Amino acid sequence: MRIPLIVGNWKLFKTLSEATGLINELKPLIGEIRDVEIVVAPVFTAISSVSAAAAGSPIRVAAQDCYWEPEGAFTGEVSPQLLKDAGCSHVIIGHSERRQYFAETDATVNRKTQAAVAAGLTVLMCVGETLVQREADATFTVLEAQVRGGLEGISDDLLRHIVIAYEPVWAIGTGKTATVEQAQEVHAFIRNLLARLYSQSEADTTRIVYGGSVKPENVAGLMSQPDIDGALVGGASLKADSFAKIVGFHV
Ligand code: 13P
Repeated sequence: MRIPLIVGNWKLFKTLSEATGLINELKPLIGEIRDVEIVVAPVFTAISSVSAAAAGSPIRVAAQDCYWEPEGAFTGEVSPQLLKDAGCSHVIIGHSERRQYFAETDATVNRKTQAAVAAGLTVLMCVGETLVQREADATFTVLEAQVRGGLEGISDDLLRHIVIAYEPVWAIGTGKTATVEQAQEVHAFIRNLLARLYSQSEADTTRIVYGGSVKPENVAGLMSQPDIDGALVGGASLKADSFAKIVGFHV
């Protein structure tokens, strides 16, 4: 009922030729996989080239952020409408690196999410606790505030265009993956929260993906969990062979 979703977040890596080269390497490796939704998120400058390189393949393209206004005097910003125009179907919003380094808050995540879904993009809304918060037993409080804040004012209809990405900050780029049990516990908590905020059927159809040191070696274990519907992959998405192995976790 929930189609698995594997997203490669390329962060601030890859020139135009490296980005299109990676797509061209990925296409034959991914082959006929059609039962997994596959998305890559290049830097803004590579979006249209990557979209063109991915045309005709199952690979879809995400941006790593967006602004909430469609146009105007907002130097340096990119709107959801322009992302669609460049070939995006998805956008990552609220990544912990943006929260940590670029002053992203639950309120800006909410505005961006509203604008992006209204423009017809699928949003990957990121949430996650820091190590300090986990050690202070604040994980669920932090996540509840992030999910409630990010989804404020979002109707059932719009929720269908949102994927929640749980990325414990302490597991990002550290090689330290949450254990399968830790990840499943949080995913179940988020699904339960969605059931409280919306309804059980909305909660059952919303995808919740995990991110944080996902690799070919650990993806199958994570994906075997009942509430883990996919992965948001950083480092291991930068090479065709490891990303293709993650996409093919079930074959
Ligand atoms: P890593 O897979 O490199 O830990 O990064 C995770 C991430 O932040 C994906 O958005």
